[in-house]
Amino acid sequence: MNGDKNPLRELTPSRSASDSATLVIFGATGDLTARKLMPALYSLFCQDLLPGDFKIVGFARRPKTSEIFRNEIASYLQNLNKGSRLDSFLSAVHYHRGDYTLAESHVGLKKKLEKFGHNRLFYLATPPSQYESIITNLGTAQLAATAGGWIRVIIEKPFGHDVKRSGELNRFIARVFNENQIYRIDHYLGKETVQNILVFRLANGIFEPIWNRRYVDHVQITVAEKVGVEGRGRFFEETGILRDIVQNHMLQLLCLTAMEPPSTFDANAVRDEKVKVLQSIRAIEIDQVENTTVRAQYAAGSMDGIMKKGYLQEEGVDPLSSTETFTALQLYPDNWRWAGVPFYLRTGKRLPKRVTEISIYFKDAPLKIFGKRADDVKPNVLTLNIQPDEGISLRFDSKVPGQGGKIRPVTMDFRYGTSFGVDPPDAYERLLLDALLGDSTLFTRADESENAWRIIQPILDYWQNYKKKPLPQYNIGTWGPAEAAKLLKRSGRRWRRL
Ligand SMILES: NC(=O)c1ccc[n+]([C@@H]2O[C@H](COP(=O)([O-])OP(=O)(O)OC[C@H]3O[C@@H](n4cnc5c(N)ncnc54)[C@H](OP(=O)(O)O)[C@@H]3O)[C@@H](O)[C@H]2O)c1
Repeated sequence: MNGDKNPLRELTPSRSASDSATLVIFGATGDLTARKLMPALYSLFCQDLLPGDFKIVGFARRPKTSEIFRNEIASYLQNLNKGSRLDSFLSAVHYHRGDYTLAESHVGLKKKLEKFGHNRLFYLATPPSQYESIITNLGTAQLAATAGGWIRVIIEKPFGHDVKRSGELNRFIARVFNENQIYRIDHYLGKETVQNILVFRLANGIFEPIWNRRYVDHVQITVAEKVGVEGRGRFFEETGILRDIVQNHMLQLLCLTAMEPPSTFDANAVRDEKVKVLQSIRAIEIDQVENTTVRAQYAAGSMDGIMKKGYLQEEGVDPLSSTETFTALQLYPDNWRWAGVPFYLRTGKRLPKRVTEISIYFKDAPLKIFGKRADDVKPNVLTLNIQPDEGISLRFDSKVPGQGGKIRPVTMDFRYGTSFGVDPPDAYERLLLDALLGDSTLFTRADESENAWRIIQPILDYWQNYKKKPLPQYNIGTWGPAEAAKLLKRSGRRWRRL
């Protein structure tokens, strides 16, 4: 393989940002900053991967000094056990009190930033309703361009609420920032196991010949959560699991599984191929939504011996809500490689366990040569475990030792933990470092995001117009309603038992 095009080499984060840079976090007193951003930044700092001259400016409304802000960060970072460099890391942290909606707050920010270097990364870790004011005010304060440095902006998910609003948001941001300055984050893409999908496919010669409609029967993608809405009922009411998980994370997993190999490994070549997959997915007609999708809510019940509320009893949820906490759907990429191969997606809250995986089901052997014993023969399944047991396993049939000639499926497993002996880094570490380095491969481009919305829009429209009240319920700790099983049963298939 040509060394210059080796994705393994390109994906190895053995890089450090050598420039000076300032990261401005809008929403610096929020949950995301405390749980994800600061721990990831501190970890990068401890690995000497941040620029030599690196500053962090936290922006939020609550009155506090930089000193108080640093103490707060110290209180949640010191448990991370990363050694004794916390004081040094914190010395780079500053606080700017301001309101996103006020232009003068950004003028004040600009003054503060003038003391630091020219390279700036703005991170919008804020409620999505605030994106437009922040972008406008950054533009007005002339913070979107700089002489002699780079300016980039990271935008959190959810990006838009439907196809129309995501398009409007893209056009709005484009008035202030160029597309190559915009980094739409989907933290799934920062996961090692997600990046490994392409390495697995493209760095190994044996899978490419069978990675197509001739050998693959269907693909299942599961994103299961054991938790419920966890106090975020009000947010979830506006979102639902189709928007929250399918539109971004699951369609990204589908793209990486189904895409053609890019001709080079640069950001646009990779994203071009993902867009082609999204564009190839057969549009779901309104009159097909009922047959090709499932929606349901979790009912109250006992999980691990503890009584849990149903979705309709959660705080912030309308007792007559028709927001779905579970969905399953069937999609068809209508392209040369995958024509006729269904991709089944399912995701839900309060399912039996937390697991994300992609399973490729291969077609049966051409002849049932083992007669009656062939009933024990199961299809070969290749499973890419994204989380939590990161790894890959291949199921194949084997003869049970003994005279009877029985056949039983067995698995061949690879586990990251045992093979590499290290835990994979957090996704935010990878993505923050990439943004500092100007590598947008793992970020979503405008057309990618809009095409993903286009796929789910007919479902959203149908569900909005035909509100089922009450929505079908499923028992917590189960794999969703009976309709989910029926979706596959119609074609003689079944969901993988996890
Ligand atoms: N939390 C997560 O795990 C997670 C995961 C994935 C994506 N996200 C996304 O990340 C974003 C942030 O989520 P979050 O959970 O961190 O939200 P959050 O806890 O509600 O934090 C919001 C932040 O915005 C600040 N803020 C709100 N209005 C402001 C204004 N007018 N001017 C200045 N600051 C203002 C708040 O600070 P003050 O109150 O001090 O002003 C706070 O720091 C959202 O888009 C969310 O969807 C979050």
